[in-house]
Amino acid sequence: MRLVFLGPPGAGKGTQAVRFARERGLAHVSTGDMLRSAVERGTPAGRKAKPIMEAGGLVPDEIVLEMVAERLETDAAKGFVLDGYPRNTKQARDLEGLLADRGLRLDAAVNIDLSEDVIIPRLAGRRSCPKCGRVYHVRANPPAREGICDDEGTALVQRPDDREEVVRERMRTYREKTAPLIAYYRERGLLVDVDGGGTPDEVYGRLGRALEAVRKK
Ligand code: AP5
Repeated sequence: MRLVFLGPPGAGKGTQAVRFARERGLAHVSTGDMLRSAVERGTPAGRKAKPIMEAGGLVPDEIVLEMVAERLETDAAKGFVLDGYPRNTKQARDLEGLLADRGLRLDAAVNIDLSEDVIIPRLAGRRSCPKCGRVYHVRANPPAREGICDDEGTALVQRPDDREEVVRERMRTYREKTAPLIAYYRERGLLVDVDGGGTPDEVYGRLGRALEAVRKK
């Protein structure tokens, strides 16, 4: 399957996308992870992206397109879950072009929805492993040993853009630039709505049932 996961910051896109991709043998392609890696390595793209990410804005489309195009070279045919891309209508058209060049198209755009009053505590409690990228939550999804990654034994860290004032700016960016993609994909008959409330397992169950219906179409 070739899928896009949409949703506001903290809706659970990464949590669900990683699990769905692993269980279905799909590639998990996260532009947020790729950008954070570029920032950490200090690449030219990373140096440009860093202040924009820390302020809660969108990194320029050309930078992100180059990263996605490189990943889709290998992953387009195998099937993928795109997590955090596209983020605006220009990126959605870029993606259509990349797929059309290979005679491919998306199967669905999954919109994981969650109200803003749930988002802030979710992001405030998020911790991640700087080595493998695994995401935890201090209460909802804690590691076995507090503050330590179950897989790597590394100390978990908090993302710099999870501070409350940056989260509010990320939500503003989402409403203005990314939310219009919901109508964009609905018009193309590709939108699948999934309620992001409840436990990660409950959301995963809803997601699986919704995508099973798409597969059978
Ligand atoms: P990105 O990393 O994509 O951030 P985001 O979209 O804001 O999404 P998050 O990663 O914050 O949340 P999520 O929905 O994945 O939730 P998660 O599963 O982690 O992008 C970061 C920045 O990079 C952007 O602001 C932008 O600057 C730049 N960028 C990225 N892509 C770009 C693009 N295409 N174009 C331009 N710029 C781009 O869950 C959150 C927390 O909640 C975790 O702690 C998790 O354990 C917990 N949790 C998850 N599900 C549940 C549940 N059901 N119940 C309780 N807790 C839960």
